[in-house]
Amino acid sequence: MTPLRRRPARLVTVPLAVAALLTAADPALAAGPVGTPGVGDPYFPLAGNGGYHVDHYDLTLRYDPDSRRLDGKAVLTARATQRLTRFDLDLHGLKVTGLTVDRARAAHRRDGQELVVTPPRALDKGRRFRVTVTYAGTPGPVTDPDGSLDGWIPTDDGAFVAAEPQGAMTWFPANNHPTDKSAYDFALTVPEGRTAVANGVLLGRRTAHGRTTFRWRQTEPMAAYLATATIGRFEVEQYTTRDGTEVYNAVDPREATAAAPVLKRLPSVLEWGSALFGRYPYRAAGAIVDRAPQAGYALETQTRPVYDRAPDLSTLVHESAHQWFGDSVSLTSWKEIWLNEGLATYTEWLYAEQHGGDSAQRAFDALYDTPADDDLWAFPPGDPGSGAHLFGTPVYARGAMALHALRTAVGDRAFVRVLRDWARTHRHGNGTTAQFERLAERVTGRELSALLRTWLYARGKPNHP
Ligand code: TRP
Ligand code: ZN
Repeated sequence: MTPLRRRPARLVTVPLAVAALLTAADPALAAGPVGTPGVGDPYFPLAGNGGYHVDHYDLTLRYDPDSRRLDGKAVLTARATQRLTRFDLDLHGLKVTGLTVDRARAAHRRDGQELVVTPPRALDKGRRFRVTVTYAGTPGPVTDPDGSLDGWIPTDDGAFVAAEPQGAMTWFPANNHPTDKSAYDFALTVPEGRTAVANGVLLGRRTAHGRTTFRWRQTEPMAAYLATATIGRFEVEQYTTRDGTEVYNAVDPREATAAAPVLKRLPSVLEWGSALFGRYPYRAAGAIVDRAPQAGYALETQTRPVYDRAPDLSTLVHESAHQWFGDSVSLTSWKEIWLNEGLATYTEWLYAEQHGGDSAQRAFDALYDTPADDDLWAFPPGDPGSGAHLFGTPVYARGAMALHALRTAVGDRAFVRVLRDWARTHRHGNGTTAQFERLAERVTGRELSALLRTWLYARGKPNHP
């Protein structure tokens, strides 16, 4: 960036009237300290908001699958990280019918995905405050830069709710960026006979007047995009594993036969992951197996991934791996998505290798064999270029290759120590590629920047495997 050319400092007294005019022309100046409309993510500039952190979301939702109408109330308990005369929430579509800050009605307006809130009095830095938003409408997904749908995706019997990277704002007002992680409570009301599944543990369910309310609680911190409230006609299975993890599976009956043998493996996959990466990060686990061709992908929704159809075992392993890598250790910037997808894909390779399948070396070799003009080499995984390439082949496959190259360089024991240390150091937090590199160098005592630069950032097919 070229430095701003500054004029030589001059002592000028701006006449008062002019100062007043200047201030009037810029409402932000007149209003004083304002929370920014985004957290500064280069791929999604309006994602998240500056000036506060959300500690807790309390979401009370009622959904009618026939009319597709949603009635919602969101109570956000937040803390100001700066003095705030105004701040934004992210909300796409829907109609806001009421908004209070600490019980006082607050002025608000919509500006694209920004819900701009002006509390009656400024919030001091460090101040805890509570925002209550009531809203209603017919939610639908957003279309991502790659053309995929994410957020609230209506299905033939309810809704498939998978919101990576942007769609949390399609169903609740949020500080919609992985850098802001929060606890959640959900009370989801649906017609009797339907099941509403969110994250964490089921506190209870109650049926009255033809409607059932499901109460869910996610205590460990969660990024907004990992929240779900998937609704449908589901067969439910509930049990506690040997190590005390509460499992809740909800399966669309049309997918049940195909899903059963794979879901049976979930406890052993989580145990295997715990032995390898360190203790499973959550009290709860499970799966939501829907029939959602409208989505066409699975997502690692926290504690309980959502699958658009019965998953195969490698998909179950992939989404389980994300519970450590992506969910517990979250991104700091969407650009670094390889940290999620490379690690989850490499976990599939490790699982296969240790369960009678191909070795990771074989998976690596098969990929390295592809010609230089293959999609795999279209861009480097550490720099996808834009939000349109977040889920491209290089992010997953070359991201996993980067990890394999690291393993080959440092040896199996040191490599596993890196993964464990990464999961432990950033548990329930966030991480960056630069931090990953420093941690790998510290743990292994090796200089790794050349290797990682090649595999993460070099354009085209690297010359040497
Ligand atoms: N993160 C998901 C996974 O790998 C995949 C995903 C989310 C996705 N949104 C997407 C894939 C959109 C393609 C398009 O488990
Ligand atoms: Zn993934």
